[in-house]
Amino acid sequence: MRTRLPLFPESASSFSGQVDALYFFLIAVSAFFTILIAALIVYFAIKYRRRSEAEVPQPNMGGLKLEIAWTVIPLLLTVVMFGWGASVFMTLARPPDDAIEIYVMGKQWMWKLQHMSGQREINELHIPVDRAVKLTMTSEDVIHSFFVPAFRTKWDVLPGKYTTLWFRPTKTGSFHLFCTEYCGTKHSAMIGYIHVMDPAQYQAWLAGGAPEGSLAANGQKLFQDLACTNCHQVGEGAQGRGPNLRGLFGQPVQLASGETLKADETYLRESILMPGAKIVAGYEPVMPTFQGLVTEEGVLQLIEYIKSIGPKEGAAGLKSEAKK
Ligand code: CUA
Repeated sequence: MRTRLPLFPESASSFSGQVDALYFFLIAVSAFFTILIAALIVYFAIKYRRRSEAEVPQPNMGGLKLEIAWTVIPLLLTVVMFGWGASVFMTLARPPDDAIEIYVMGKQWMWKLQHMSGQREINELHIPVDRAVKLTMTSEDVIHSFFVPAFRTKWDVLPGKYTTLWFRPTKTGSFHLFCTEYCGTKHSAMIGYIHVMDPAQYQAWLAGGAPEGSLAANGQKLFQDLACTNCHQVGEGAQGRGPNLRGLFGQPVQLASGETLKADETYLRESILMPGAKIVAGYEPVMPTFQGLVTEEGVLQLIEYIKSIGPKEGAAGLKSEAKK
């Protein structure tokens, strides 16, 4: 029924129903109180109007029952809104582990999207239906925002930082993609389509070719071209001037400052562009910055390469090595 409302977008993701239910609840509560209050204003204005010049109203000292009612009812309603909203937010904020990963780069004024297998797209994204898709997003210039109304999801895309967004499309078809952060002259033209396909169609589309090789393969080449190999070993147990990168991704890293953090995309990106920011315990701050030497796309390729190296179970080995 809602799809027939011209201003209401189609519902096409696993959580769009939840978002709509919350939205309609908020609208219903607001409409109920707006109408109630407006009607009471009119009713009281008539009922308690001044009937003669000499009329002096009785002072009203209030009523405890009334005060409790108008405190407790809104309190309960707002607690429900908060709890419900937080639960929907947590669903939207936590990508499932089995999600297909896609990189998104916002740029004045286009969306650049990249599949792990190497396919690149501009202002278009092809994905299979009924599979969770996780987007890791960054911007080459200013703040943009990735919005797919049919999926009921939106997240800001920031320069110098990775943000993530996910969705599981439940219908095939083409859905609008918008930039919803004013980002300059052609902000309104920073639009595109998400094409949700049958699994078979999607496989055919993927097979259509990734002439430039996978992200990880390009990252490996870049890793060699930038001479990262001079300091960073990737072989089992091999030592170098910098930390060994085998099995690093997703594992805890002990820093010289005593802090421990997880080696995620944001940490790897920072370590490539601002190596001095977080030094691994036991190593000298000798790494030069690669700011300006490697593009955001290059950074993504390097991260994918690092993710692809070695066993993820290497946590114990990595920790002892970081402390050496
Ligand atoms: Cu990008 Cu508005």
